[in-house]
Amino acid sequence: GTTALLALLLGYAIGSIPFGLLLVRAAGKGDVRDVGSGNIGATNVLRAAGKGIAAATLVLDALKGWVAILLAVMLWGAGQDWAALGAFLGHCFPVWLRFKGGKGVATLIGIGLGLHWTIGLTVIVVWLGVARLSRISSVGGMAAAAAAPLAALAFGHTIYLPVLLAIFAIVLLRHRANIARLLAGTEPRIGRKR
Ligand code: G3P
Repeated sequence: GTTALLALLLGYAIGSIPFGLLLVRAAGKGDVRDVGSGNIGATNVLRAAGKGIAAATLVLDALKGWVAILLAVMLWGAGQDWAALGAFLGHCFPVWLRFKGGKGVATLIGIGLGLHWTIGLTVIVVWLGVARLSRISSVGGMAAAAAAPLAALAFGHTIYLPVLLAIFAIVLLRHRANIARLLAGTEPRIGRKR
């Protein structure tokens, strides 16, 4: 109904703020899209502008998902899944950047925490654990996105399965170039320039 559409639009507006691009530019490090993978997410911000700016990008991109859900709860007491989907779509496909946005992993962390702490914690643990073991950010991100719907199932939040499955599918789509590089054995390790 109307709440779903409003929550989707509100989430999109928040999610489409390209913090990585803005912070790298503000730090005088140029356009993050000209560096490494060309992505605007924290992993590529690390390549372009270092740890501090990357950490800030990670937190702010995560907050977009969390805040969108919080606002839906405050305004309507409903629509968390639509707000989450909106924020995710806004981050991945921002109108301001001709729909070329991020890959959604940081925003999914905030979404997970906003939906239920068990989902958020699972996403964070899987993301950190797999990234640490593989030393490849994209592998951690895709594993975390797969873990989110599994966590919703395992901890009894099946109401969030549709949105988390949709997000998982889009995370995989957004990582097409990473998957191609992984298969070719050329995907960079965390912290390397390319
Ligand atoms: O969250 C994005 C990460 O999974 C991959 O980033 O820059 O290595 O393509 P990147």
